[in-house]
Amino acid sequence: MKILGIETSCDETAVAVVENGTKILSSQVASSEEFHKKSLGIIPETAAREQLKSIIPVLDEIIKPFNHLTIDAISVTVGPGLIGSLIIGVETARTLSWLWNKPIIPVNHLVAHLYANFLQFKNIPFPAVGLVVSGGHTELVLLKDHGKITYLGGTRDDAAGECFDKTARILGLGYPGGPAIAAMAAKFQIPNSKFQIKLPRPMLNQDNFDFSFSGLKTAVLRATKANKPYLAWEIQEAITDVLVAKTLKASKKYQAKSILVGGGVAANSRLREKFAKSANVFIPDPKLCTDNGAVIATAAYFNKKFTPWQKIKPNPGLEITDNL
Ligand code: KG4
Ligand code: ZN
Repeated sequence: MKILGIETSCDETAVAVVENGTKILSSQVASSEEFHKKSLGIIPETAAREQLKSIIPVLDEIIKPFNHLTIDAISVTVGPGLIGSLIIGVETARTLSWLWNKPIIPVNHLVAHLYANFLQFKNIPFPAVGLVVSGGHTELVLLKDHGKITYLGGTRDDAAGECFDKTARILGLGYPGGPAIAAMAAKFQIPNSKFQIKLPRPMLNQDNFDFSFSGLKTAVLRATKANKPYLAWEIQEAITDVLVAKTLKASKKYQAKSILVGGGVAANSRLREKFAKSANVFIPDPKLCTDNGAVIATAAYFNKKFTPWQKIKPNPGLEITDNL
């Protein structure tokens, strides 16, 4: 079964065709990141305009080699995300659905981040604990099976990605902050440096699965005189320590047979290194961690909620457990 995947929830315009949820036949991603670098963060209006400019060229590239009759369904991110950006993908999907007479499968962007694992790996056992760490979300869920998701906890304020982005801005490292902090942290030589300020590990020892990263940002604001590579290293350590500890705790409590990690922050090497010490942790290749159309098609394949185009609409506030 061939599914077209359309993703436009934020600043990436991405389209892909995936066969049976596991084989990428074609995938393209255009990004307006360059525009947002200048503003050190995403301006929703700019992101939406760039989506509009990119969607037809990207779609054209993908569709050209395919006879559209061989495409069985169209999948599209309906939320969460920026409304102006979501509309572009959703209206494109609706138009194609009407034109080709194919059903649409609506996809939750956060669920799709976890499904990057089903795209890349075979035989992932359930129950699984899922950690979504994207730019705007940090969420822990329990997946009993495809389509059976229970919320365990999430951030009470800033998401982990947001914390990387905001602390990078404080340190003058530019946008997106995650890769910038990681690059600066790589310059820190542990044996040669005196440890300076220790940042907090928010909510690490609390008996729940919630997170809070906004205090870290304040702590970094007070520590800007510290050596920059050290501070970047310590930010990365603090964020990844909390993410890993809470995920492993959830996995133990719910006797999970696997842990699935997804979202842009899952591209972080230090996070991957820490998770690698535990068994049965699945983290996709970095290019599948950030936004792309293939994971949308995969999530659609494993949760085939065929829907007529008339019923599809964008939902910026969609939650990870919302059954579409
Ligand atoms: O999932 P994503 O591509 O977009 C959203 O759905 O939000 O995630 C973007 C987030 C940004 O906050 C970015 O700083 C972070 O992922 N990120 C990273 C890395 N690459 C991207 N954070 C830490 N280390 C990285 N290597
Ligand atoms: Zn994302």
